[in-house]
Order: sequence, then structure tokens, then C-alpha cells
Amino acid sequence: MTVIDWGKDDMPSYLGTYFPRSYAESYCIFSHYFSNNISEWRHRREISILGFGCGTGGDIFGLLMAIAENLGSVRRVHMHALDGNRHCLRLYEELLDIMRVRMPFDIDSREGFIAIDDNYDLGVTSYVIDGRFDIALSFKAIGEFATRNCFGKDNPYRNIATQLYGKLNDGGIMLIADITSFCNAQGEWFPDMLDRGLADAGCRVVDGNKGHNQQFHVSHSRADNYTTKIAWRIIRK
Ligand SMILES: C[S@@+](CC[C@H](N)C(=O)[O-])C[C@H]1O[C@@H](n2cnc3c(N)ncnc32)[C@H](O)[C@@H]1O
Repeated sequence: MTVIDWGKDDMPSYLGTYFPRSYAESYCIFSHYFSNNISEWRHRREISILGFGCGTGGDIFGLLMAIAENLGSVRRVHMHALDGNRHCLRLYEELLDIMRVRMPFDIDSREGFIAIDDNYDLGVTSYVIDGRFDIALSFKAIGEFATRNCFGKDNPYRNIATQLYGKLNDGGIMLIADITSFCNAQGEWFPDMLDRGLADAGCRVVDGNKGHNQQFHVSHSRADNYTTKIAWRIIRK
């Protein structure tokens, strides 16, 4: 079962698995990226973020923490977060209220419920997303489209990366991260599908994990130093 189908009772599992992992992965990747590209980001006072398949928001909150620690000039963050699971979005909103008081900048936020079944729905999404963004991110969501065969024979990374790329400001970046197992529905490894999709979408990859995946080590109140693995790519417009 993919996470879009998870019910209210599954949410504690979500908070114990995807949330801390994606938080840690996103925080590490963006902290590293900002410190390596600090001249481009250091004077920013506002940053706009588009989260696609945000779930409970671990990836977005990891990014917010990386901004707070690395980009001291930022005064306001505009966020638009999209997901097709209402239970996840509700939790995301609750967690955002907690983050809001801890961040050194103001946060404007819009959340959107969008369950995408096919290319038509994805096209509609383009109208729902207003404006352009400095950073787009999608963690462990696009693989679910592949597992559910949403776009038939089309590569979901290509279709979704094309949409998100079109929403970036010039000089904006997009981070796509996903699991690294074999996708039985498509008969292909997820990282290979990701690379093929990005190449077909004409995306310029400027950073990413070395090899098949990158490992991160995560500890939280209920678990100590467990390992999580993802493939990730940063695209710059
Ligand atoms: C594995 S979760 C990851 C969530 C979050 N990005 C994270 O890393 O914690 C994947 C998310 O993508 C969303 N998603 C999957 N397929 C979707 C679809 N067809 N339309 C809208 N959202 C979808 C799910 O609802 C779920 O919240």
C-alpha cells in the first residue's frame, strides 16, 4: 500500500518513520548545499518553497531548519505544500504551528489537497500552483506514482520534474529524493528511473548522492542511530 492510502490510524507510524528520516536527510542535504553555494544565497531576505507530496512535512521542516542555521538574512519564507492525503496534511499543519514559533523568520503558508491519478490531474495541478519558487522539493513521493502506475508507460519523474521545473524562478533549485529499491510495477530500479526521467525532462543536475544511494544516520526519542538510504538529485534552473 502506498502512503496516499494510509488512514488516520497509520499516522503515528508515519511520524516514527518517514518524518524523522526525511527531516534529517533534507536538513543535511540543504545545509551542505547552502554552505557550498553561500554567495548565491547569503543575501536573501525572502525565500519561496514548493513542497510536492509533502506528507507530514519532514522534508520541508528539515529545509526550514537548514535555512535558519545557514541563511541568517532570511526574514520571510513563503511555502506552498501539496499532498493527496488529508490526514498527513492535518498533521503537517499542526507541526507547522510548532515550527513557526521556533524559526527566526516569518512563514506564510498555503496547503493544498491534491490527489493525482493521471496526467490530466497533474496538468490541473499546474494551475493550482500560483507563482514561482526559489526551491521545490519532493521526497519519496514520485516513486509512489510509479508504484501505482499513475502515468501508464510515462516516467513519473520526467512528468513531475517537468511541472516543478516550470515553477522555479531563474537560479532556483529543485531537490528530488526517493527510495532506492527495485520498482516491480515498472521493472526498474528507482534511482535509474529518476536519472532517466530527469534527463528526458532536460533537467541540469548540479549535485546528488555518489553511487547508488547515500546513507544517513538518524536518532530520535524512540530510536537510536538507525540508517536510512535515499537517492537524491539537485537541479538548478
Ligand atoms: C512516502 S510519503 C513522503 C512524504 C514526505 N515527502 C516525507 O518525506 O516525509 C509520500 C507522500 O506522497 C503523497 N502522494 C503519493 N502519491 C500521490 C498522488 N498520486 N497524489 C498526491 N499525493 C501523493 C502521499 O500522500 C504521501 O504523503
